[in-house]
Amino acid sequence: MAIAKIAILTSGGDAPGMNACIRAVVRASLQKDIQVFGILNGYEGMVNGDFIEMNTRSVGNIIHRGGTMLKSSRSKSFTTTAGRKAAFEQLQNRNIDAVVVIGGDGTCKGALQFTNEYAIPFIGIPGTIDNDLYGTDFTIGYDTAVQTAVELIDKVRDTANSFGRVFFIEVMGRDVGSIALAAGLAAGAEDILIPELKTDIHELSLKLQNSRQKESYIVVVSEGDDAGGVLEIAAKFKQLHPDYDVKTLVLGHLLRGGSPSANDRILASRLGTAAVDALLNKNFNVMVGVEKNSICYTPLSQIRKHFVSINEEWKHLLDVLSY
Ligand code: F6P
Repeated sequence: MAIAKIAILTSGGDAPGMNACIRAVVRASLQKDIQVFGILNGYEGMVNGDFIEMNTRSVGNIIHRGGTMLKSSRSKSFTTTAGRKAAFEQLQNRNIDAVVVIGGDGTCKGALQFTNEYAIPFIGIPGTIDNDLYGTDFTIGYDTAVQTAVELIDKVRDTANSFGRVFFIEVMGRDVGSIALAAGLAAGAEDILIPELKTDIHELSLKLQNSRQKESYIVVVSEGDDAGGVLEIAAKFKQLHPDYDVKTLVLGHLLRGGSPSANDRILASRLGTAAVDALLNKNFNVMVGVEKNSICYTPLSQIRKHFVSINEEWKHLLDVLSY
């Protein structure tokens, strides 16, 4: 079967660089005479038939823009048998030969479920700020999110220093601590709490006490940390240290917005183009990724969450640099 017509969508949490990736998929396809349809609002739009034909100009002027021009959703209906059947009919009615999906773990799982039921191939592209996917060293949006977090934490440091405060700053990363670890290290945080490492508030308290001569303390907390969110952690900490001036800040969706970094634009362009290559080579139902700076393809059936592995070097960095 020759691929003549494809559809593309973005799903789940948007990530800076998704637009650059859409641009790459559209342009690489058109160059091979493949017609491209954009599906609006993720899988929800596939179920409801929200398709728009795309051309090279419809992806002009978007490489530098955050968010996703195709919009996104966390579709409930696509998780149902009836929803996927409706989605299949929408694709069939338009003679779509294959679908490219940009998103995270849930997006790849949705693609896998669909391809187990219907004979329309899918290609996944990792787009999530969380950098939590097996099959790629980096996901689109992670580099920008870390940079944004560092810039914001640097600003907090200025004001924290002026008052000698302890700040608990929460960053996104539902299950995995990649953003917290990278942003915390780059911002010189006094401690970093991530779901992959057990959090002990007493230990944290001792560590901060031992470095009391510092002007301020910043603790970067991953939203999925086992000790809870920043409010809970700060409350527990305050019980141990009623004398400390403790503040909390949730960076939340600030990390999802903004113009993508050069690295994310390049990664998105590479992965988008590689996704079209996969289709041309009939390498179906895979997620395209980058490992050791080379393009790689992993079956959708093998895609799962990838947790941060704290090796000896990281442990050493964390121990030595925060005092
Ligand atoms: O999956 C990416 C992510 O940004 C997570 O880090 C976060 O937990 C979640 O999305 C938030 O999603 P929503 O915008 O739907 O609340």
